Amino acid sequence: MTTNRGTWKSKLGFILAASGSAIGLGNIVFFSSNAYQYGGGAFYLPYFIALFVLGMPLMMLELGIGTMTGRSFPMALGKIAGKKGEFVGWWSIAGALFITMYYITILGWALGMMAGSLGSLFEAGATAPFDDYLKPSPAANSTVYFFNLISGWLPFFFIILIWAINLLILRKGTASIERAVRVIVPLMWIFMLILVVRGITLEKGFDGVMYLFTPDLEGIAQPHVWRGAFSQMFFSLSLGMGIMTAYASYLPRDSDQANNAMLISFLNCSFEFIAGIAIFSLLFVYALNPAGTTLSLSFFVIPQGINGISAVPWIVRLFGFLFFLLMILAGLSSSVSLIEGFASSLIDKLGITRSRALATIAIPGITGSLLFTLPQVIDPSLSGDGTLGLTLLDITDHWVFNYSLLFIGFAEVVLIGWVMGADNLRQLLNRHSRLRLGPWFTFMIRYFIPGLLAVVIASSLYNEAPLYGSSYDMPGYKWLTVFIPLFWLVSSTVFALYLTHKSTNISE
Ligand code: PFF
Repeated sequence: MTTNRGTWKSKLGFILAASGSAIGLGNIVFFSSNAYQYGGGAFYLPYFIALFVLGMPLMMLELGIGTMTGRSFPMALGKIAGKKGEFVGWWSIAGALFITMYYITILGWALGMMAGSLGSLFEAGATAPFDDYLKPSPAANSTVYFFNLISGWLPFFFIILIWAINLLILRKGTASIERAVRVIVPLMWIFMLILVVRGITLEKGFDGVMYLFTPDLEGIAQPHVWRGAFSQMFFSLSLGMGIMTAYASYLPRDSDQANNAMLISFLNCSFEFIAGIAIFSLLFVYALNPAGTTLSLSFFVIPQGINGISAVPWIVRLFGFLFFLLMILAGLSSSVSLIEGFASSLIDKLGITRSRALATIAIPGITGSLLFTLPQVIDPSLSGDGTLGLTLLDITDHWVFNYSLLFIGFAEVVLIGWVMGADNLRQLLNRHSRLRLGPWFTFMIRYFIPGLLAVVIASSLYNEAPLYGSSYDMPGYKWLTVFIPLFWLVSSTVFALYLTHKSTNISE
């Protein structure tokens, strides 16, 4: 049986979809929080180096194997490197499922905060969920509002709604994705530009921008700054999850992928750059500190900054609403791509219909997203994450964000560099490309990138003890810090072995 996989109607449709995948929560909140955590200006140099030595070559690779094979990631790697290739592909899809689950939870919370912007989020007197610890606040307090939200059941409804919108956008494959991104992607650029203009015209707003760009040479010498920049680059460009391969497999075989890779990376990093300016300028007005987790940035710190945008309450609400709407739109075009990467892999492997593939993903996916929002309070002192859902999310994000993408990146360059032959890929890309990739490309894929990733992964693992989250004050739940990474590793491996060895229902 062969399936009709679909194609993009236009190159613009593909660029919008791929850049929409890349531009997401990673650009708006994770980038700013990482940039701050790793020392503002100290982050820039590693970040730009990561873009050129890692991001762009890997984007070319992932796009190239998509058009070359006309298949999604596991099947494309399977064609190139046999069963071990396919195993790597399915392993990455398992990682993508974990990310999808918590990514959608965050979007559900953003929806709650967006609704709150019109309600009482920016008003004084919100009540604290943990009465003994946080007193009702006399001032508008987004932290209190957020904990109130996540320690109740309302987010279940928001999360189901976000899943439903994703499935709706995905129901007709490329045709319906293209229709959605034509609206979503331009809107998110417009909203972001509005925020930047408001941010830098605020008194002191410009100081934030200066902080973001002032280099700090001490920071550059620290290995964790480099690991942060590499993980950020992978996540931000949607690499290591098979997404770009799936999207490229819907393009004609003679597409210029070197050029596409540069265009998508450029669009993504410019958005990130602009978002950094907007957020740093907002924060500096109040001398707010975006350290702490990425989530605290989006849900407590930025709303506090928005409070300072104007003395007129409706303008504050409007900007709050706009910010969360922007997060949701940017996040949707990314979550859609995460689900599509999985769906197209199932369709390619099993020959099932699109609706069956989507249902197969939605059932565990929705369950996982709901687990990440379990409202039970397990850390009343709030030294960690407060609720069970948020703790699960934080620890899962630590492992999958920092390791899954880098592991897969490493495995794919080894497979392409050594099994397929990086020179073969280079020739293939050059055949349709205006830009000539020289022998440096082969060197990067075969030696430089695998070496670099191996060092980054090894040094991160070495620095891992004590296990992430074990310093949290959560009596009775410490076992989660061991259980979550084990669960991720074992379940991804079993899932990947099962699908790799399942027979294919499709003729090539
Ligand atoms: N690139 C998206 C972001 O920056 O938010 C997130 C993402 C989407 C990561 C798709 C990975 C992926 F495969």
